[in-house]
Amino acid sequence: MSDNQNIRVFATGSCEGLSDILSALEAHQDLELVGARESVADAASALSGGHLDVILHATRGSEFPAGDLASIREYTRAPIIMLCSGESSGLLEDALEAGVADLLPLPQLTENIVFAIRKTCHAGRRTQASDGARRGRVITVFSPKGGIGKTSVAVNLASAFAKIQGKRTLLLDLDLQFGDAAIMLGIEPEKTIYDLVVAPGELDHEKLAGYTTAHPSGLDILPAPMRPEDAELVTEGKLSRLLEVARSSYDTIVVDTSPFFHGPMLATLDRTDELLLLCGMDVPTIKNVRLSLQTLELLSFPSERVRVVLNRANTNVGIKHAEVERALETKIRCDLPSDRAVPLAVNRGKPVVLSDPGADFSRGITTLADELAAKDERGDDRKRRGLFKRAKAAA
Ligand SMILES: Nc1ncnc2c1ncn2[C@@H]1O[C@H](COP(=O)(O)OP(=O)(O)OP(=O)(O)O)[C@@H](O)[C@H]1O
Ligand SMILES: [Mg+2]
Repeated sequence: MSDNQNIRVFATGSCEGLSDILSALEAHQDLELVGARESVADAASALSGGHLDVILHATRGSEFPAGDLASIREYTRAPIIMLCSGESSGLLEDALEAGVADLLPLPQLTENIVFAIRKTCHAGRRTQASDGARRGRVITVFSPKGGIGKTSVAVNLASAFAKIQGKRTLLLDLDLQFGDAAIMLGIEPEKTIYDLVVAPGELDHEKLAGYTTAHPSGLDILPAPMRPEDAELVTEGKLSRLLEVARSSYDTIVVDTSPFFHGPMLATLDRTDELLLLCGMDVPTIKNVRLSLQTLELLSFPSERVRVVLNRANTNVGIKHAEVERALETKIRCDLPSDRAVPLAVNRGKPVVLSDPGADFSRGITTLADELAAKDERGDDRKRRGLFKRAKAAA
């Protein structure tokens, strides 16, 4: 992995001399200081959506900040370097125990801190690269509007990956309150994500396999909870772990979502390689998709991972394709046509891409699946980190 990539750093906590350090880091050409927040809770969205390489956590006391570190771990798996002013000798053991990558007593020369950041980032990326052979790709289907076609796209895309491309595919239904991906596949699973998260013991491949249901297309599905009230038990921490395990078990994980930027969605974004942002041909949806693009930018989600998909793109409702692009200030990367075959297949509980592969919608999905697979083969787009936009979340 190239060393020229900007290293994305986020700082939390506080200690003497931190603001000088942050100013120096901000000016450093190899680093991108994405932002800084004294309180970890205030940093939740940036930590979750930020695709960060290193977290700096500053502390001034001699007491180990176990609560802060646990909270950071809820939001991101990025390695943590602790900076501490004052007496720090008693912190080392706890820090090592907690998996902190490095502990730097202050004052330090900026170059020493930069060196530690580079070393930690490099080690983190090497670990990721060595996992790479088994690292599945997370494709999240999102829209800020209900009923726009998220589940139809997710179910058919996952079916195309599994059946047409022969990929090991997991369809994860994170429309946690009202998920209907299983119904669209015509199956009645006995176990859901709720059963998985409340089951005792650490989550690993075998445990995950025990809770998924196989569909004849070859995909596995982990459905949403049966009852809406069970949704809240699927915490961000559990979800983050689930996505990590799923990535090492599957080639592709297609995630269906609800129309909200809530905690589970932020945890999913942190691990999303490709975000399909669904738009429709009506003004309220276009307005909300535009807001979503702005929110993603604030969350520091890499713009090159966002693919705007226009569903029912051929609907004649007085708005033109080019007008949607102008309003969104971005290119639409995929058009899916309105097609009667879609509701017909939904009502039969069969993915249209398999039951009617010649239908216009099916051909659109197959092309989209091919493009996503081609991008996957070209390699992880993290290699173009230098293009990432900087979040405005500075302290
Ligand atoms: N391209 C299309 N052509 C025709 N019908 C479509 C198309 N896309 C979706 N639909 C229909 O629109 C309805 C809503 O789609 P879907 O359930 O996929 O939306 P959703 O965004 O997942 O909704 P929710 O937010 O409620 O989960 C479905 O009945 C589906 O058959
Ligand atoms: Mg849905």
